[in-house]
Amino acid sequence: MRALEPDDRRPRAVPEARAFGDVDEPLRDRDFQLALWILYELHYRGFDGVDPHAEWDPLLLVSRAGLERTMEHALRELVASAGTADPVEKTGDNPADDVVLALTRMTVADGPSTVSGFLQRRATRTEFCQYLGERAIYHLRESDPQSFVLPRIDGPAKVALAELQYDEYGGGRPERLHATMFARALESLDMPTDLASYLPDVSGETLASVNVMSLFALNRRLHGAAMGHLAAFEATSSLPCGRIARGARRLKLPESVLDYYDEHVEADAVHEQLAIRSICGNLVAADPGLADDVLFGAATCLEVDGMAGEALMRRWLDERERRPEPAKRSRAAG
Ligand SMILES: [Fe+2]
Ligand SMILES: [Fe+2]
Repeated sequence: MRALEPDDRRPRAVPEARAFGDVDEPLRDRDFQLALWILYELHYRGFDGVDPHAEWDPLLLVSRAGLERTMEHALRELVASAGTADPVEKTGDNPADDVVLALTRMTVADGPSTVSGFLQRRATRTEFCQYLGERAIYHLRESDPQSFVLPRIDGPAKVALAELQYDEYGGGRPERLHATMFARALESLDMPTDLASYLPDVSGETLASVNVMSLFALNRRLHGAAMGHLAAFEATSSLPCGRIARGARRLKLPESVLDYYDEHVEADAVHEQLAIRSICGNLVAADPGLADDVLFGAATCLEVDGMAGEALMRRWLDERERRPEPAKRSRAAG
């Protein structure tokens, strides 16, 4: 389709201007992230009563582009200041091997998640349900953003992404669709299964962690970052899911909750290798120019998911602090 030279196709300019200058911390700002989430949702399922033409409304696209510019700028600043994604270290003549090694190091160095440790050992049933509610915003749409990348890549990387997505989408069994399994887990706890029910309480950081997937997946020039993000996401999932499953067992939560997390202990151990080696490795083997984008995407996942986890931990610890001690409660009652 294109008459351009190969290197013309991926503009490298990093957005500098901040279109929404009055937002100090766009990655934590709930209004900012909610606005972007709503604009993205027009590309997924849309909203009841909203004209489907809104998806391609030029004014909304201009608004989306402005928010995305600010978001991408904030992500690049965050990753640069954290130093998570240094330029790929060249160990030989094979850039694909260098990227695989860098992704493996980054995701191993990420360490155990505080949130999953809290869920395993300390969380009450209410806090566990709050966690599911916070994550519902992603899991009820699980893996959908990455599907937008399929038509943008080719060869072995495309085959590997299709294999990973096939798994996420139930491997041919509708009842094993991961989003459906998560909905079943919510249902088993008498929690709503529609995403809109969770939007009022979800943090800006969690919305950012979901929006970043859409930002990378819906902008073709960022497809390398989308796959790097996927690699880091999958590589830091299996062990935390094991801890969360142990927490669910400790709290004697219904089988559907265990089923969802047990499934991910196994599946994501496989997905990690698929995403790092078969998707990102092959992507960079075909186009070494994508190496830095892949690592930027992976670093973004680690940093933004880390922020979302910290926000959730802060909320739990604050709520625990505000809660009266049992002794004080009985005195007040007596
Ligand atoms: Fe999944
Ligand atoms: Fe997965």
